[in-house]
Formats: sequence, structure tokens, C-alpha cells
Amino acid sequence: MTKRWLSERKQEKYYKLAKKYDYRSRASFKLIQMDDRFGIFEDGNSVVDLGASPGGWLQVAKERVGDGKVVGVDLRPIKPIDGVITIIGDITAEETMKELLEKLGGKADVVLSDMAPNIGGHYSTDHARSIHLCTYAIDVADRVLKKDGIMVIKVFMGDMFPTIREEMEKRFHIVKVHEPDASRSTSSEVYVLGGGFKGIRPKKITEPAEEEKKAEFSVKGELK
Ligand SMILES: C[S@@+](CC[C@H](N)C(=O)[O-])C[C@H]1O[C@@H](n2cnc3c(N)ncnc32)[C@H](O)[C@@H]1O
Repeated sequence: MTKRWLSERKQEKYYKLAKKYDYRSRASFKLIQMDDRFGIFEDGNSVVDLGASPGGWLQVAKERVGDGKVVGVDLRPIKPIDGVITIIGDITAEETMKELLEKLGGKADVVLSDMAPNIGGHYSTDHARSIHLCTYAIDVADRVLKKDGIMVIKVFMGDMFPTIREEMEKRFHIVKVHEPDASRSTSSEVYVLGGGFKGIRPKKITEPAEEEKKAEFSVKGELK
């Protein structure tokens, strides 16, 4: 039995299950498995789902939070789902972020990101694009997640993976890296789960501006 054969059999299994339970994507089972294992959702939670099209994760989130608010964002349209708010837009654009803040109308208990770049087949480029999307997803969490909230984020494995893990560790008390059974065996994706959001945006180390670099030192805002 080759890895490819096993992967195809697994995909077939989740494809059939998605049809049977009326989920829009096989991806629904990844979220179901992570929620069953780690307890992501609670009744009444507010949830933000980034990279939500066609809506498999939105269906699961809505089922599991009942009357809670669920807001999905994607570049692509999402067919309506009862009780779910959707936004078509690029999350790296400030206007999409603004629309999200408006439609969410408060803070979220859970931020999910299943965002994936268009896979070009060039491993390191796909990885770099995935990392870029992750940094935006983490920025969304910084802006909307409640203290003690939960985040789940998809990352394509590669040499920059430790950066994302570190960024998650700065913000969450508990960080776990997980590969749900419903992920393809041949895929390089993993999910990083953060629990217990600290609610503080970690300070960034910034490069000084050019004129500051030339100055010897600064006293109360004045450069010497
Ligand atoms: C694997 S699919 C998500 C599947 C979804 N979780 C589901 O269960 O149906 C990844 C999605 O990320 C979206 N995406 C990629 N870059 C994005 C961006 N900058 N802003 C918003 N969505 C993005 C893609 O359009 C794509 O629909």
C-alpha cells in the first residue's frame, strides 16, 4: 500500500461522509475532529472564520455555537448559510478588516483560519505565501479575539514554520500543533491551535528610522 493510495482512500472516505452529512467540503471533518479532541467551541460563542469558502467550516461552527455569531471571510463568494454572516474580501486589505470589525460588532471567542494561497506547486513559494497569510490571521486575532479566546490556524510546513509557532506562543498560554486524520496524508499542512489568549499585542522589535540610527542616543524624545 503506497502513501498515495492510502491518501486517495482517505479522501474518498471523507468525500463520501461530506456528501452524506451535507457538508460543503471534506475540510469540515478536520474542524469536527479538532473540536471533538480539543473543545474549541462553546454554545453562544462568536466565531470568525478566515478563508471560509465554500463554507464547510462555517457549517460546523454554526452547528456547534447555536445562537452565537459566526462571520466568514473569503476572496470567493460563499453560498448563504442560515444565521451566518459572510464577507467577500481579501483579509490583507484594510477595508475588509474594517468590514469584519463592523459586522462582528464586538469581540470573538474563536478565530479560525483555513486560508490557503493558490498552490503553484513550487514548495518554498507556497510555504512563504502560507506564512504571509498566517501573519495576517494572527493580526486579526490581535484585533478581535477576547482574552482567553482560542485560535486555530492552518500552516503549510517549511523552514519559516517556527516563526508562526513563536508568534502563537507569545500570545497564547497553550499552543499545540496538530494534524487531523481528515487532512490528506500527502499534504504538508498542519494546524496550530492556541488556547488562552493573553489579550496583549506583543511588542515588536522595530528597526530605528534612519535619523535615529545616526544619533548617539535620545533623551525624552530628542535625538542627540
Ligand atoms: C482550503 S480553502 C478553505 C475551506 C473552508 N475552510 C471550508 O471548510 O469550506 C482556503 C480558502 O482561503 C481563501 N483565501 C486565500 N487567501 C485569502 C485572503 N487573502 N483573504 C481571504 N481568503 C483567502 C481561498 O479563497 C480559499 O477559499
